[in-house]
Amino acid sequence: MTDQPSSSPLARSAVIVVAAGSGTRLAAGAPKAFVLLGRRTILEHALDGVFAAAPAQVILVVPEGREDEASARLHAAQEAFTGRASPSSGVQRDTMHPANGERRPAATVVVGGDTRQRSVAAGLAALAVGIETVLVHDAARALTPPAQFAAVAAAVGPGVGVIPALPVVDTLKRVHGENVVAPVDRAELAAAQTPQGFPRAELVAAYGQAADNAVEYTDDAALFAAAGGAVRHVPGSDDAFKITTPHDLERARMILSSSVPAPGRSEHPAEAPMVPRIGVGTDVHAFASGGTLRLAGLDWPGEPALEGHSDGDAVAHAIVDALLGAAGLGDIGQHFGTAHPEYAGAHGDVFLARTAEILAEAGFAIGNVSVQFQGNRPRFSARRAEAERALSEALGGAPVAVSATTTDGLGFPGRGEGIAVTAVALVHRR
Ligand code: CTP
Ligand code: MG
Repeated sequence: MTDQPSSSPLARSAVIVVAAGSGTRLAAGAPKAFVLLGRRTILEHALDGVFAAAPAQVILVVPEGREDEASARLHAAQEAFTGRASPSSGVQRDTMHPANGERRPAATVVVGGDTRQRSVAAGLAALAVGIETVLVHDAARALTPPAQFAAVAAAVGPGVGVIPALPVVDTLKRVHGENVVAPVDRAELAAAQTPQGFPRAELVAAYGQAADNAVEYTDDAALFAAAGGAVRHVPGSDDAFKITTPHDLERARMILSSSVPAPGRSEHPAEAPMVPRIGVGTDVHAFASGGTLRLAGLDWPGEPALEGHSDGDAVAHAIVDALLGAAGLGDIGQHFGTAHPEYAGAHGDVFLARTAEILAEAGFAIGNVSVQFQGNRPRFSARRAEAERALSEALGGAPVAVSATTTDGLGFPGRGEGIAVTAVALVHRR
């Protein structure tokens, strides 16, 4: 490892990716790392992040019997990464294709043990000459940003191990059986993630000591600390959460399907291209006996109002549902329903403006909206342009097309009892 560029914090680092667990809590019918997350496995997503971080060596620890499959996936992830790597990316020698002369990180598959600690120990036994820093990473933290590897590696020093950690957000209690015994001050606590980084020689010695004493630790930092090492923490990231339960897997799928790649994490060619998303919304309101109609962002003097929690603007409400649905952000009831009394009586324009904000906060831009209402009244065509302008303005400028139709006297719109609206919206990631 003599020709590593000194600029890379991972130039003399190995990443041990532990993927030998069974995934009991995920219960997906295969070892967790081999479960699909989108089009590729959890393991492949984890390897994307590892290779993007460009360590000098990658050691992948897998269940017995999965070596060939793991090796193929390791190859594929490495190819995908090095195929796009710039010449200065800091990746180095290749033990997987020793004859081809390409410069790649060393990459090795080893078989794990029946505890995580034994799996890490198996990985440590495969460290290459010249590695000075070891990062131990859970494959189950499949969406960890590459920058987290670099931040951890950069903070490791002689006698000092480093973990990424997040502040604890929940209020914590000490419990005994059914009883809450005491509050716990969360300011003193942090939630540990991986990769956890250590100076090589001290980590190897600490693992030797743990094996001699036959003690199992909950993570590498605890094991390292038990051997006398100091452990510091650097900021972790929300995306580095551990996929443990089916709910976690769903969360990871949602992140992948609705997001641009995390900073520093290039999109893998096998991932779905960024496609626009569509949503549909409907709304129905009955005419009230009096008042003044509010519809499609306009007042309609002489026409009776629609009943409703707010101003009854069924066109605006259908658009809100279409937009929220397109972005996968819930529905109108969730954001503006009776649980939000501040919106009682509010104009549909307020809902539209807030919906545009909710989408923007989640990283979505509105492509266009098309909406149609069924009803005998009001006579709409003369004010179509005015309505479209009002709705578009409420949405921050996105194009809105509105049309109206009668139903040949059929159904409640035909009988003049109310109005039915259907809206379709297209959104895309910004
Ligand atoms: N791990 C491992 N070898 C083991 C146990 C766990 O390499 N004997 C790895 C897992 O593959 C995972 C990481 O350690 O990437 C964290 O463990 P965990 O999330 O507990 O995964 P599993 O042990 O597979 O899941 P479960 O505890 O639900 O069975
Ligand atoms: Mg486990």
